[in-house]
Amino acid sequence: MTIPLPSRAVPTVLLVLVIACAGGEGEAPPPEAPPDAPDRLTAVEIEQGLGPIRDLQLADVDAELAALGETAFTTKCSACHRIDSRFVAPALGDVLARRRPEFVMNMILNADEMVRRHPAVRELLAEFYTPMPTQVRDPEEARAILEFLRSVQTASLSPGEPTGDR
Ligand code: HEC
Repeated sequence: MTIPLPSRAVPTVLLVLVIACAGGEGEAPPPEAPPDAPDRLTAVEIEQGLGPIRDLQLADVDAELAALGETAFTTKCSACHRIDSRFVAPALGDVLARRRPEFVMNMILNADEMVRRHPAVRELLAEFYTPMPTQVRDPEEARAILEFLRSVQTASLSPGEPTGDR
C-alpha cells in the first residue's frame, strides 16, 4: 500500500533545496571572511566605494558644470531618485552628508559592482529591492552629476568631508 504524500509537499521540499544550493554559490562572500573586513573590501573601498574614482580634489561648486549635471540627472536618475524625498531609491539631497563624493561617483559609474559588493549599498538594496543599474560610463558626466548634487545638498556636510574649498 502506498501512502499518498500531501500534494504540495514535494515541490516545497524541492524549492527549499534549490534555494539552499543557490545560496552556496555566486558572488556572496565566504562565511570565513574576517569580521573586520566585510566583503573583503579595504578601508578605502568602504569609504570611497568600488570603481575608478579615488581622492577627488573639489573646489567651490561650479554652477555651469552643475547645470550640465542637472540635465543628466533629470534624464538618467530622476526615474528613481528625488532630491528631497525617498522614491524608488534613496533621496539624494543629503547624500554627501552620508557618503564621500568619490563614493557617489563610483556608485554612478560602477553601480553593478557596488550593489554586489559594497556592504552599505547591499543594505540599501535590502531596503529598496531595486538594484541600481550603471547608466553613466563617462567620468566627466558623472562628475557633472556630482556637481549638481553638491549644489542641491540640503544637509550640511559631515565633519572632515574633503570638499577642498574651506
Ligand atoms: C532604476 C532605478 C535607479 C536609477 C535609474 C538610478 N538609481 Fe541610484 N539607486 C537606486 C537604488 C534602488 C539605490 C539603493 C541601492 C540599490 O538598491 O541598488 C540607489 C543608490 C544610489 C546612491 C547611493 C545612495 C546612498 O544613500 O548611499 C547614489 C549616490 C545614487 N543611487 C545615485 C544615482 C545617480 C546619480 C543616478 C543617475 C545617474 C542613479 N542613481 C540612477 C536606483 C536607481
